[in-house]
Order: sequence, then C-alpha cells, then structure tokens
Amino acid sequence: MTETPEVPNLKARGEPLTRVDGKLKVTGGAQYAVEIPSSRIAYAALVMSTIARGRITGIDTAQADREPGVLAIMTHLNAPKLPAQPTVKNRVSVTDRALQILQGDQVHYWNQPIGVVVADTLERAQRAARLVQAGVRYAREASQTQLPRRSGASGEKPAPPPKGGPSGGTPAEYARGNLDAGLRAAEVRIDQTYTTPFEHHNPMEMHATTAVWQGPNHLTIYDSTQGIFEVRRKVAVSLGLPKENVRVISHFVGGGFGSKGSVWSHVILAALAAQKVGRPVRLMVTRPQMFGPVGGRPPTEQHLVLGARKDGTLTAIQHDSTSSTSRFDEFIEHTTAPTRALYECPNMVTRERLVRLDTGTPQFQRAPGEATGNFALESAMDELSYALGVDPVALRLKNYAVQDPESGRPWSSKSLRACYEQAATRFGWAQRNPKPGSMRDGNVRIGWGMATSTYPAHVWPASAEVTLLPDGTAQVRAGTQDIGTGTYTVMTQLAAETLGLPIERVHFDLGDTDMPPAGGSGGSTTAASVGSAVRMACVELRQKLAELGSAQLEKMDQKAIAELLARHKLDKLHVKYEAKKGAEHDKHAGRSFGAQLVEVRVDRDLGMVRVSRIVAAFACGRILNEKTARSQYMGGIVWGIGMGLLEDTRYDQKLGRIVNNDLSEYLVPVNLDVPAMDIIFVEENDPHINEIGVKGIGEIGITGTAAAIANAVYHATGKRIRELPITLDKLL
Ligand code: MOS
Repeated sequence: MTETPEVPNLKARGEPLTRVDGKLKVTGGAQYAVEIPSSRIAYAALVMSTIARGRITGIDTAQADREPGVLAIMTHLNAPKLPAQPTVKNRVSVTDRALQILQGDQVHYWNQPIGVVVADTLERAQRAARLVQAGVRYAREASQTQLPRRSGASGEKPAPPPKGGPSGGTPAEYARGNLDAGLRAAEVRIDQTYTTPFEHHNPMEMHATTAVWQGPNHLTIYDSTQGIFEVRRKVAVSLGLPKENVRVISHFVGGGFGSKGSVWSHVILAALAAQKVGRPVRLMVTRPQMFGPVGGRPPTEQHLVLGARKDGTLTAIQHDSTSSTSRFDEFIEHTTAPTRALYECPNMVTRERLVRLDTGTPQFQRAPGEATGNFALESAMDELSYALGVDPVALRLKNYAVQDPESGRPWSSKSLRACYEQAATRFGWAQRNPKPGSMRDGNVRIGWGMATSTYPAHVWPASAEVTLLPDGTAQVRAGTQDIGTGTYTVMTQLAAETLGLPIERVHFDLGDTDMPPAGGSGGSTTAASVGSAVRMACVELRQKLAELGSAQLEKMDQKAIAELLARHKLDKLHVKYEAKKGAEHDKHAGRSFGAQLVEVRVDRDLGMVRVSRIVAAFACGRILNEKTARSQYMGGIVWGIGMGLLEDTRYDQKLGRIVNNDLSEYLVPVNLDVPAMDIIFVEENDPHINEIGVKGIGEIGITGTAAAIANAVYHATGKRIRELPITLDKLL
C-alpha cells in the first residue's frame, strides 16, 4: 500500500538565509552577460544619433575604417534587410517594442542607435564608434520632448491611447457611480495637478549582450535580461530564425527594474554584428547610452479632484492623467490603477491620455503607474486631511476598501489596517501635532508625513522540474531569472522545505531557455509564480517517492536514496510541473498593501530636505526569506527617496537631447541620503492567491515613499510641492 506523503507546510516566514549565490558574486565568480569567456571575442560599440528628430543624409566612415583593429562598421547603409518588424498593431505583448535596428534613415530621438562598430578591443571599438558618430550628416526637424503643461500650449495635445494599443488589460478609461452627483454631494473638494518627471533606469549593470553563432542558423545569446524566453522570441522573430535555433542564457543580472523586461535594439545589433564578423561579440550599453534607447519612466501630469463629506467620507474621485510615449511606439503609464483600488469611493472617473514626444519609448519602471499615480493620490489625500482637519491615517481608515472597489471581488487577503496601526505605533504618530511648522530644531523644520503603499499581486504561468539523484541531492530548475531579488535563494529554500532535505542537498538553477519555461521577472511575479511551480514539482516528487514505498525524504540519507533508486532500477527520479493560475485566483482580487511614515528635516535657509526617519509596514502574504525580502523593501524605499528628492532626467528643449545622462548629473540616493529604515513585516496568511500564499514584494516598497516625503515636507514647512522631485529651489 502506498503511504500518503506528508508534505510539510511552509513556514509563515522563511529563514533569513544568506544568498546562496552571494559568495560567487562577491568573489567575482558569477559570470555576467559580457563576462562569458571566449578567446575569439570581439567588441561592439554603438553609434548614437545626435539629433532628436529628422533623417540621416550621409555617413562618412572613412576615418573609422582606417583605425587599427576595426572589424566591421554597420549602419543602415549596409545592414542586412530584416523581416518585417513589430509595430504597435502586430506586436505580441505590452513588452514587445519597436526597435531601431538599422533598417532606415529615420531618427526618432536623441541617443538612438544608428550604427554599430566591431573591433578587436573595446577601446578601439569605442574610438571608431565616436569617429563614425562625428561623420553623420542629418536633415533635422524641430522636436518636442516635454508634456504640454510644461511646454505651454503649443505642440501635441494629449489623446486617448488607440484601441488595441498599449493598455495590456488595464483600462485607460474607467468610471463607476456618478461623478457629478458625487462631486455635488461633497462638502470639501481638493482640485490639484501633480507632476512627475522623466526618470531613467540605472541598474549597476548596464544592458549587456554576448552573441555567439553556431553556424549560420543557430545562435546563443548571453543577455542581461528580465525574460530569457522573451529574448529568444524577439531575437528569432527579428532575425527570421525558428525560435528553437536560439538559446538564451542569463545566469546573473545586475539589476533590471523593468528596463530589462523588454528586448531593445542593442540585443539584435549584437547578433547582427557577430554574424557579420564571424566571431562572438560582446556589447555593453554605456552609462550615457542608458538614457533613451532602453526605456525610462515617462513624465506624468495628473489632475486629481477629490470630493468628501466633512466627516472624511469620500464621495467622488476624478483622476485625469497624461503621460508620454514615443513617435514610433506606445507605452502607457497606468497612474490611475491605484486610484481605482485604494479607497472605497462610489463615484469615480479615471482617464489616461498619451502625448507623443521625440524620445525613446518609455518603459515599465519599478511599480510602473503605481509609484507615479500613488504620489498624486496620496498627496491629494494629505491635502484633503488638512482641508478637513482629520488625521491622515484616520482619513484613510475612514475610506478603507474592505473589498476591491474596482472588481467588487473580495481581496485574497488584505492587512492594511494592521500596517497603519503597527507603523504608527512604532513611529510614535500619536504624538504628532498636525500644525505645519510646529516642530523645529534650530534652523531646521521637522515634518512627519505618511502615505499608503500598494502594488497588485499577479501570478503568471510558470514551470519547474526537480530531479532526485542517487547522490542524495535534488536538482531543481526553472527557466526564470534572478535580477538581484534573490530567486536562487528563495527557490532553494522552497524546494528544501517542501522536500524535507537540508539546504546543502538542494541545487536550484535558472536562466537558460533549455529549462522549463517561466515568464519574465517583472510585475513582482517571480516568487509567486515560479515558487508555486517549484513547490508543486517537489510535492509531486514526494508523491512519486511514496509510490516507490518511501514517503519520508527527511529521514533518507544519501545511501537510502541510492538504494531506493537502485531497487527500482532508476538512475534518478524526475518530475516536471506546470503551474497555472489557481482556480481560486479569479474569484478574488490580489493586492499587496503597506504604510510608510516618514520624518524629514528641512533647512529653513537652504531649502535642503533630508529624510531622517522611515517606518514602513508591509503585508505581502508569506515571506519566503526575511533577509532578501527586507532588502527588496529597502531597495524600493531608497528608490522612493530618489523619486521624491532627486531623480529627474532633463532635456534641453531646443536640441531635444538629455543633458544629464550620466551618474554625476543624474542624481540617485547615496548612503548619506538614506536613514536607517525600520521595516515591519505584517504577518498575512493568504490561502487564495496561489499554492504558496506569496504576493510579490519587489515593487511595493517604492510606492508611497515620494508622497510620504512630500506630505512630511508640507508638515515641516507649510509648502505643498506637487512637482517631483522636491528640490531646494521649490522650497525657497
Ligand atoms: Mo518591473 S517595472 O515590472 O520589472
């Protein structure tokens, strides 16, 4: 008789295991995309446009041609003609981008790839690329690189995104109840416009690709990417190869944050360059080249109207948002998504509009839409709290959404109340005097502000396999990515815990299209989706083991496992599992929530803002590893400080070029900008969201931080800054 396997329940909070790949990383043993060894490697450098709009009328490559070590110079004049490229109409997903891969003379934005040079060393390739760049002649047209409010009445008007455009299931327009009736019922009204600037992703590791051809029709791409299967699809389609002929490998990624969730031009250019020179080619986008051709967060202008009764009950919300896209592709920043979900409010209209600018196509950036939209909504809620004389936390509790106001479904879990309470207690919020300017320390004004955090909890299909070997180890594999989030570590833990094996006997591997497919590591989905697949693969392995008469893996040492397999004439025990969305999932709405309370110190004379204290509480289902989870939350909040105070891509409006495209001029928080953070894990059991009760945590941290800072700045100074970033000039 078969013994029923006892699968251990997962702990509510996983051990704070140190990263299993940590040693490899700190010793330099981890191989990133352009560290793949090859004796025949050649180096590629991109040539970029120096105008924002127009046509290339000629390219003089004579000088570059004469440079030593140059193997190839490719521009639109000599590049191979490629199969029809995706346009907005025929693209396959919201991450599928129209690329600039040398198929024509059009320049759509400044810093657009217009050529690629290959040489025997990186320095020679870069020098020759500069020479080519200097030899380009253009017919130039006037460009627009700002949203209408900032640029005045001239230029393009905001328009609804076209049908079948970039929404990806998220509505660009939405209404519930009766907005006008709700506004008429309001006793207090807030009517304001909030703006957020262009921001550009700057992961430690820039975008990077090594392309290696095996004969004329087979290609291996080592890529720094958030989605290996998407790279395979896009490379195959772009080059006209069957996708089986393309293998993509990505074992380590030095950060992505959304920008590496799409395949950009340089990946295809690396493949073309390698084909042309008949050698493996390495191409790493330089830091200045990160600004334009590989996405960025688009600017937003958000008009919010809140109506409320005197007791704080919301009667109406209107949220009109404009963000930008490029001339040749469509991306929309869904700023109104959190507005629809966060508060119980019966009457609502939300609308998103697009303006085409002469820039590269914008892209998902950590908590796309949610971070920008939540800045506006949570700033407006703060303004409402002052207009009503109601405490900001109390105002939010008054309008607490006990079920999802958008879908009407119950939440799979929601512990936001506990987040507010625990964060407020830890912060000492009860001591707050609501009067702006009431706390001082000499010349410094002190302010306390708060905001809600939220991010949707998605689950994408994923698969995984596990193999039990006679040496007593389990080999677990999934074609996913570790973009610095800790996927290697948490999947190892999940597998070990489910199998009942010690961590040392479980090896988890990822990052290869030869492995079972999984989705992209975006939208805070990897732990939930791949984790469910790993968990279920391990559960099935235990069932198989039980069929062989042994249900208790935790009691089996290497010898016992070897003997069991030998007895059944097996060289291994193997299971592959494909996870789909759980049936329960569609009956519930999934979102993570949190609360951030911030203290700022503002110098009265200099207008300098320092964040001096942050308490943040999050409830995101089961936590797989407390250490890597804390690191995710902290990373999000640090970026939120950057969003609130520093980050701002500046265009020269006349030339249409970015003037701060490097890390000395594009400011991000450094250690001195970041106080000690007090992160509270609010325990949350979610039986509905997926097999492991996990919601994503990679993005929620950034949502709410900028609003909490802006609200604290108001409390400190009495000045309401509605335009990010909050720089000192706005406070003087
Ligand atoms: Mo995230 S912006 O979906 O990588």
